Amino acid sequence: MQTGRKAQELWSHRSVFILALLGSSAGLGNIWKFPYLTGEQGGGTFILVYLFCVLLVGVPIMMAEVLLGRRTRSNPVQSMQILSQEAGASPRWVWAGWLAVLTGVLIFSFYAVVAAWIFHYIFSLSAGLLVDVGAEQASDFFAAMLNAPESLLISHSIFMLVVLLILGAGVRRGLDRAIRYLMPLLLLLLFILLVYAYNSGYFAQAYHYLFAFHPDRIDAGMFIAALSHAFFTLSLGMGVVMTYGAYLSRKESIGQTVACVGVLDTVLGLLVGMVVITVVFAAQMEPASGPGLLFITLPVAFGQMHAGQVLCVIFFLLVGFAAVTSVISLLEPATALLEQSFALPRPVAACVSVGALGC
Ligand code: PFF
Repeated sequence: MQTGRKAQELWSHRSVFILALLGSSAGLGNIWKFPYLTGEQGGGTFILVYLFCVLLVGVPIMMAEVLLGRRTRSNPVQSMQILSQEAGASPRWVWAGWLAVLTGVLIFSFYAVVAAWIFHYIFSLSAGLLVDVGAEQASDFFAAMLNAPESLLISHSIFMLVVLLILGAGVRRGLDRAIRYLMPLLLLLLFILLVYAYNSGYFAQAYHYLFAFHPDRIDAGMFIAALSHAFFTLSLGMGVVMTYGAYLSRKESIGQTVACVGVLDTVLGLLVGMVVITVVFAAQMEPASGPGLLFITLPVAFGQMHAGQVLCVIFFLLVGFAAVTSVISLLEPATALLEQSFALPRPVAACVSVGALGC
């Protein structure tokens, strides 16, 4: 394993770094967990507790990760090696780096499956399947997809290919460029959906569900739920932030940049939550969490609204973009490790991390 350091490619601009971290943070966690968790745990009270966790725990940890990555300009394993040597600490710290890379890969193994479902839905909805379906038909469609994994082969391969092309092209030509296109597109789709939700007549009801204050419900369970969600959604402790930090110019202020990401991720989660809950309420349905919300409730709910079919495709495209930007971040530590420590050319490193780990 090599430990030599060569000049590292950097993000083209601080805003791209912010968007890259936002892209990593904004994923399935925000879309299928946050709205439900917020409603279930006590609306505005939970949001306050969550913000407290983000600002007091999440942002400092994120700052530390960025700082470590930028200091070493390396992947998590090599970073730990360099830092422990410099500090005269135990070389066993390197295992923390391996653990971070491994965790990302393990999350990727289930994330990629759900991403394939999302791509399958984008194609099916665009082809006019799932039009005006009821809850039973939507749930049959979902069950049929799960029971016939071969039907997912095309969507899974397309998803993997997109991730591979982005990762294989390197930091500047791959990640940086993809993020500069995907994130503004994601925000544009969210804006369209928000305007639609606002005009649906159910925005106020969704607002009440998400933001109503129930201070009596504050307890240890709420803190634990908020903290664990903050860790997952901010992609902390998995070497992702550290690796992205390795590509940040030394001129940039870490504190401001990271605080910006923490706040933007929360705002994005809340805005997606407003869209999701508004659509569910407009169809007189109940918000659920997990796969049921995304793959059964929402297609039915959108189907009952004016122009719902088109908007449902837009919604799934948004989720698809969010999944791509999260997955490239999950695999970047492993890809950087293979490239920097095992001297594999970048495209080969990307093929190994996407192929070997994703199969
Ligand atoms: N933050 C992503 C989400 O909320 O869906 C998931 C994730 C991405 C977790 C990257 C961890 C990570 F390293």
